[in-house]
Amino acid sequence: MVGMGMIFEETYRPMFEALHAGGLYRKDFGVAAVSLAAVATRTGSRARAYKKEAGAKIADFTSFEGTDSVDKMIASGVDFVCVASPDDRHFEAAKKAIQAGRHVIIEKPSVLKVQQLDELTALAQEKNVLAKVVYHKLCDPDHKKLRTLVHDGELVHVNNGYCSLLEPKSISKGQFAEWIKGRNPGTYVAVHYIKLIDFTFGGRLKTVSCTGQRGIVGPADGPTWDSTQLRMIYEYADGREAAFDIHTSWVNPDNFPGYVEQEVQFRFDNGVWNGHSRKRGIELTIEGKT
Ligand SMILES: NC(=O)c1ccc[n+]([C@@H]2O[C@H](COP(=O)([O-])OP(=O)(O)OC[C@H]3O[C@@H](n4cnc5c(N)ncnc54)[C@H](O)[C@@H]3O)[C@@H](O)[C@H]2O)c1
Repeated sequence: MVGMGMIFEETYRPMFEALHAGGLYRKDFGVAAVSLAAVATRTGSRARAYKKEAGAKIADFTSFEGTDSVDKMIASGVDFVCVASPDDRHFEAAKKAIQAGRHVIIEKPSVLKVQQLDELTALAQEKNVLAKVVYHKLCDPDHKKLRTLVHDGELVHVNNGYCSLLEPKSISKGQFAEWIKGRNPGTYVAVHYIKLIDFTFGGRLKTVSCTGQRGIVGPADGPTWDSTQLRMIYEYADGREAAFDIHTSWVNPDNFPGYVEQEVQFRFDNGVWNGHSRKRGIELTIEGKT
């Protein structure tokens, strides 16, 4: 495990503890033991705190710390590396792991430049290892249901839609303050919706454009963005198009009810999918069916 921050606490930790308790079972391969073997962090303090707090919920693991912690962790013989450090530190860790012949999963966004992605993909093919990106939101029940309805032909041809995710200032000014310079909320969270749109509706991305605002997290002429608005146009096999707007920010007031604001709306030939995380859950309209 590279990095033990929020996403480790919320998703990896429960998984490792469940695997420690019960292993991984599938009918075709039976029970497989999966253990957290080692972690690489900068100071080791979170690893120490976790060991103390988790007690018997997790087997003992090795904690590597410092600037060469990833190298030492890979050299210790792990089979699989999960990269969950800040976005701009994914590439180097993933490249080292793949080069050493380890399988890798990387938290979204995998890397910050498409050339880096090409490099990792080519390297993974050469080394014959698995290298995948984690989008845990794809497993949200509403995301799965939407894809099922589209796949089954209940919802016909998406024409347009919008998605919005507003994160609180505590993210940009607190949790990420140390490594936010030069970054934007689009690469941080719009990627979830790009993945949802791509995975659910398929098609070919024709154009992408983006605007943004600055002045809260950093100076108005600096490299760090408060909010971004992305527009993507897709074309489908029948020649028809769809447009999607994705608005994201990380400067919402910290006292905003519900922590984050998440909303999506997709409009089809025969229906509308409305999702709002706080207010109404999912509201689906299909002509002749709802
Ligand atoms: N899939 C999701 O929905 C989701 C949600 C939140 C975060 N994430 C992604 O997970 C990653 C981590 O986010 P987070 O919210 O846990 O961040 P965080 O700031 O809470 O934690 C990052 C951790 O990485 C450690 N770290 C920093 N530099 C390191 C290095 N060079 N080597 C090893 N460890 C290092 C930090 O000490 C910290 O413990 C980000 O890429 C983020 O985009 C994904």
